[in-house]
Amino acid sequence: MAVEESSEPTPEEDYSQPILSGEGASDYERYLRTDALLALQKTPDDQVHRDELLFQTVHQSSELWLKLAATEVETATEHLRTKEIAPALRLLRRASLCLQLITAQLDMLEQMSPWEYQTIRKVLGHGSGFDSPGFRAVRRVSPDLGEAFHALRREAGLSIVDLYVRGREFEDLYQLAEALTEWDERVTVWRFRHYKVVSRIIGDEVVGTQGTPVELLGGLIKKSLYPELWRARNEITARSNEE
Ligand code: HEM
Repeated sequence: MAVEESSEPTPEEDYSQPILSGEGASDYERYLRTDALLALQKTPDDQVHRDELLFQTVHQSSELWLKLAATEVETATEHLRTKEIAPALRLLRRASLCLQLITAQLDMLEQMSPWEYQTIRKVLGHGSGFDSPGFRAVRRVSPDLGEAFHALRREAGLSIVDLYVRGREFEDLYQLAEALTEWDERVTVWRFRHYKVVSRIIGDEVVGTQGTPVELLGGLIKKSLYPELWRARNEITARSNEE
């Protein structure tokens, strides 16, 4: 059958009209709920400083990426519980990339003047990153991921060091150990970068909006999600030295 070419769309092909239900003039706005999304920032009239838009944009978008990261880690854990390593790896790559993205966007906060930021700080109440739903979710889902990995490793009869020494025989498990290490590292790199941003803007010897000394944030950089994976490196070096 020949297809007729026509510049006039038939009524059902009128792409300018939305077909989805919901609020918004176009399907783009309806699907993405841009009306609601773009109303989530203070209006210029409500702002105490124009940089509040920058500040809210970085925080709100970080929350979205953290939500995605935690969701991917949670589903990756479910895959591991049913012994599906490949799909788990795919999701863990995404989760680590989420952390990379929010680490990169911390650069934007350093575009604020430390003096002018003090104006914004005064309207944050007791708001503190410790109450970040996204970062809390990351902390909540990460231990289960570690347990699911260790269950598979133990089932294969391997210590972490054995897994690394015999990595070529257990390629999937090796890749998984590295994906967890990557995830752990990305969270720490974010923490380190955040600590430097905080130090650069409000100082490293002051107390935060929820009473936490910034020095304590510096200490958290030493925390790992999976310390056993990092200790294994020391053992690998020691074992190699013995041979
Ligand atoms: C001007 C920028 C920022 C400043 C001055 C700042 C300051 C602080 C301070 C002082 C703390 C310690 C807790 C307290 O408030 O007393 C903290 C913790 C935290 N902040 Fe920020 N922050 C900034 C940007 C961000 C951004 C963009 C995020 C993104 C989600 C974030 C997430 C967090 C988290 C998750 C913690 C807990 C840290 C942890 O458990 O390691 N912060 N922040």
